Amino acid sequence: MVGSNQFFYKVCIVGDSEVGKTTLINQYLKRRFVPDAQRTIGSNFFVKYVKIPNVKNVLTLQVWDLAGQPRFRWVRYAFYKGAKGIVYTYDLTRRETFDSLLTWKEEVESKIGVQPNVLVGNKLDLINHETRIIRLEDTNNLKQALTAREYFETSAKLGTKVEDVFSKLALEMYNTFNE
Ligand code: GTP
Repeated sequence: MVGSNQFFYKVCIVGDSEVGKTTLINQYLKRRFVPDAQRTIGSNFFVKYVKIPNVKNVLTLQVWDLAGQPRFRWVRYAFYKGAKGIVYTYDLTRRETFDSLLTWKEEVESKIGVQPNVLVGNKLDLINHETRIIRLEDTNNLKQALTAREYFETSAKLGTKVEDVFSKLALEMYNTFNE
């Protein structure tokens, strides 16, 4: 049974609606951009086997895509149970999605406490130096507040850094729960 594997980790990807959670997962699993992903209703999960450099065991990630819309809040609560890693995601073009990650942190931690996590700013392809609205200092502060292991800027459209997000989180979970 997959759930009894000691190198099995449940991961939840959270953040406001439309930040690109489903698209990130599609890019990670299929290595391609799936435009106009359907709005997530409730939750879906996907399994991925991960090989990490210098770790001889193959890790199994069960990645849960949780609907970001507020009306799904009560559905989401049940799905945090057992999660060993969190991907906190915001949209680099929308400040409010960055600010709301503190509310996401409260929601997650009220159910499962602090778990290994990474912070992701997505839609890198839509911004440049002039249009950047979130400063490095702000991301450093949020990273600290979340106790995130790393901060990534991704493009789920182009595939930029997407693999790194999950590899890093997998490594952090392995180091935390199996060392
Ligand atoms: P919910 O299911 O409502 O929680 O949304 P979500 O966070 O899963 O967002 P989703 O993946 O559905 O993406 C929302 C929109 O943003 C879609 O139109 C995507 O095609 C687009 N999108 C996602 N990631 C990127 C990206 O990196 N770059 C660009 N240009 N568009 C993106």
